[in-house]
Amino acid sequence: MKAQHARMGNFKAAMIALGEAVIRGNKVDAGKHASRLTEALAGYEKDVPHKNVSRIKEFQAFYGEMKKRAVKLAADAGTGNLRKAALSYGRVLEACVSCHAKFRN
Ligand code: HEC
Repeated sequence: MKAQHARMGNFKAAMIALGEAVIRGNKVDAGKHASRLTEALAGYEKDVPHKNVSRIKEFQAFYGEMKKRAVKLAADAGTGNLRKAALSYGRVLEACVSCHAKFRN
């Protein structure tokens, strides 16, 4: 549970820094923070919902979807294509919000 909470803080820090890098047009930082986001996912398979606890499959499916989108974002940011990265960023953010809508207190 502690790891899960720390994970959310890491997600947030990476997303904010990444958004800023994209806005500034800093490709190096964008790549760095996109990698940081995917790294922050490590171990998510052990996380469990605190709310709607019986719906763990659905909860994990949100993580799975977020991971797919984060990998795409890291690839786009890694190649320095900030337009693509901006679109991928939005797709990741949508995954965050979708899970929060169902599972966040
Ligand atoms: C699989 C579901 C899921 C996904 C995906 C998810 N979150 Fe969360 N998030 C939660 C839950 C549940 C909480 C409330 C409990 C907690 O803090 O662990 C939460 C809480 C948070 C919090 C508040 C933490 C605090 O200090 O109170 C932040 C910030 C956050 N998430 C950011 C993000 C960001 C950014 C993303 C996407 C990059 C994301 N989350 C993706 C489930 C998810």
